[in-house]
Amino acid sequence: MIIPEKINLNLGENSYPIIIGQDNLAALGNLIQELNLGRDIFLITNTVVAKLYGDTVIKHLRQAGIKHLQMSVIPDGEQAKTIENWHKVLGEIADFDNGLNKRLVVVNLGGGVVGDLGGFVAAVYRRGINFVQVPTTLLANVDSGVGGKVAVNFKQGKNLVGAFYQPRLVFVDLSLLKSLPQAEMRAGLAEVVKYGVIADSELFAFLEQNYHAILQYDLEALHHIVRRSYQIKAQMVEQDERDTKGIRALLNFGHTFGHAIETATNYARYRHGEAVAIGMICAAQLAEELGMFSQGETQRLEALMAKIGLPAKIQGADLAQIMQAMTHDKKFVNKKNRFILPVKIGEAAVKEGIDETLIKKIVARRLE
Ligand code: NAD
Ligand code: GLY
Repeated sequence: MIIPEKINLNLGENSYPIIIGQDNLAALGNLIQELNLGRDIFLITNTVVAKLYGDTVIKHLRQAGIKHLQMSVIPDGEQAKTIENWHKVLGEIADFDNGLNKRLVVVNLGGGVVGDLGGFVAAVYRRGINFVQVPTTLLANVDSGVGGKVAVNFKQGKNLVGAFYQPRLVFVDLSLLKSLPQAEMRAGLAEVVKYGVIADSELFAFLEQNYHAILQYDLEALHHIVRRSYQIKAQMVEQDERDTKGIRALLNFGHTFGHAIETATNYARYRHGEAVAIGMICAAQLAEELGMFSQGETQRLEALMAKIGLPAKIQGADLAQIMQAMTHDKKFVNKKNRFILPVKIGEAAVKEGIDETLIKKIVARRLE
């Protein structure tokens, strides 16, 4: 049994606690009330998570004395992260709110898709209401649950429409991961590899030693990577909440290529973490070509991702489609491309204005 713990993300009046526990869902309702986040809960989830945990969460919230409670269920998958679903959920929350003068709090129960879309609902409804992230995938437990980047996708670009809007509480129950399919565990691990490369060589070595235990849902090992990932992310967000200082940008290692792969394949072929995994290999090879990163370290990264079982090749899109998708990347400034490249395992840097021929060469190598 892991000992529950709290990490604080310190952002002045927008600070919030990140609670990491096991079998702790029953405590959620009381905590929402103790923190005075709201009286009436609008729960956002998707079809898969609703079936698995919807009733249990509602039961616990009712037992904690929450009287007004409604659940909104979006379809499953990345393709559901649309402005249409966002609009639909906003209509439902407005109906729930109608005339009752509610003190609303949104609770997002799900992976990164529910968290990003539900956070964007909370960001705009009545110009912003409190929201809580209850992440249920490994990816959301190490990355998307914290930091307040909320958004939906457009065909022109991933997360193109959204906001910076921080949750008031992040509540992790690691036991919820037990139902997560292996492929989703692997995809979530890609984001942990990312933290290892950009900031923590010990975490990277831990993954090399323990990836198998993690994929077997070993709670101690999971606790370690969730805690460490959130600590790293919290530090970066605290220093650079709006992603303007080149600190939070490091979290996008692998994402310039990865987002372009997702967009070019219509958000249907790869899980986000899988696309990021291919993107990290591209970024490592680019850094190697630029003489910034050693061949040995690229091979170490590729070997870890292969052991985890992450893809290394791009299928379902051609070079032109990927390059086109990359031009819409929010990370590009004044049309100058911008990549996060590794310097060594445990350190990365932002690089701009890289020769397009070189980028094309790197992407072409990954095409199957
Ligand atoms: P997801 O939300 O689609 O979840 C993956 C799959 O797991 C889905 O089919 C879902 O229904 C299912 N699932 C969720 N919890 C489950 C559980 N406990 N048991 C069984 N099945 C479960 O995808 P994701 O990988 O969690 O998140 C990807 C999204 O996160 C992308 O849209 C990405 O852009 C976003 N993201 C956002 C940030 C951020 O900072 N906001 C960071 C990283 C990624
Ligand atoms: N996932 C990138 C960020 O939160 O900045």
